[in-house]
Amino acid sequence: MKNLSTCLRSLAVPMSSPDFWVIPETGPQSGKRCPKRETTRKREAYFLDYAEAIRKVCQFPVMVTGGFRTRAIMEDALASGTTDVIGLGRPLCTDPDTPRDLMEGRIEAAASHENHLHLASKGLFSPASPLMPLKVINVIGGQAWYYQQIFHLADGEPVDLKLGVLGAFRAYLADEMRTAFKVRQARRRSSPGPTPVGA
Ligand SMILES: Cc1cc2nc3c(=O)[nH]c(=O)nc-3n(C[C@H](O)[C@H](O)[C@H](O)COP(=O)(O)O)c2cc1C
Repeated sequence: MKNLSTCLRSLAVPMSSPDFWVIPETGPQSGKRCPKRETTRKREAYFLDYAEAIRKVCQFPVMVTGGFRTRAIMEDALASGTTDVIGLGRPLCTDPDTPRDLMEGRIEAAASHENHLHLASKGLFSPASPLMPLKVINVIGGQAWYYQQIFHLADGEPVDLKLGVLGAFRAYLADEMRTAFKVRQARRRSSPGPTPVGA
C-alpha cells in the first residue's frame, strides 16, 4: 500500500485535467498484487478498492477495468459512485455486443472464458505448475486465445470457442514468427545494401 499512497499524493497535486483516469487490472491471475478482502472479491472487480482511494483525491472521472462480469455488480459499482465508467476487456474478444446486451437486459453476465483457459486446473500442467515452461504456456496461451478470437472477428469469421490453450499458444508463436520474418524481409528490401567495390 506504500506505493499506492505515493501515487495518491501525486494525484492530489493539481495537474492538467484528463478526460478520464483509467484503472486497469488483468484479473485474478495477478492475485499477488490484489487486495485480499473477501467482500471485494465477491464484487468481482477487486480493483475497485483502488478506485475508491483514488476517488477521494481526484476530481476527474474514473474508469475501472478488470474482472467485471455481472450486470448487478457493474450497476452496483456505478450506483455507489466508485467508478464512472465500466471497462470490459476479455468478454469483448468473443462478443463485442456484450455491453449492449448487458445494458438492454438481454444477458445478466458477460462471458468468463478465462475460467477454463489453462492446460489443467490443478497439478503439474496448471498455471501453478512448478515448471516454468508450463507456467508460460498457460499464461501466454491464455492471452493468445483472446488474440486468436480477435483475428477471427477481424476476418468476419465466427469465434472458435473450442480452441485450446495449447493450440492458441502454437498459433500465436507461428503468427509472431511469420510477422518477424515479413518485417525482416521488408527491412532488407528497403535498406540500400553495401556499395559495390569500384562503384
Ligand atoms: C487480447 C488483449 C489485449 C490486451 N492488450 C492490452 C494492452 O495493450 N494494454 C493494456 O493496458 N491492457 C491490455 N489488455 C488488458 C485489458 O485492457 C484489461 O485490463 C484486462 O483484460 C482486464 O479486463 P477484463 O477482466 O474485462 O478482461 C489486453 C487484454 C486482452 C484480452
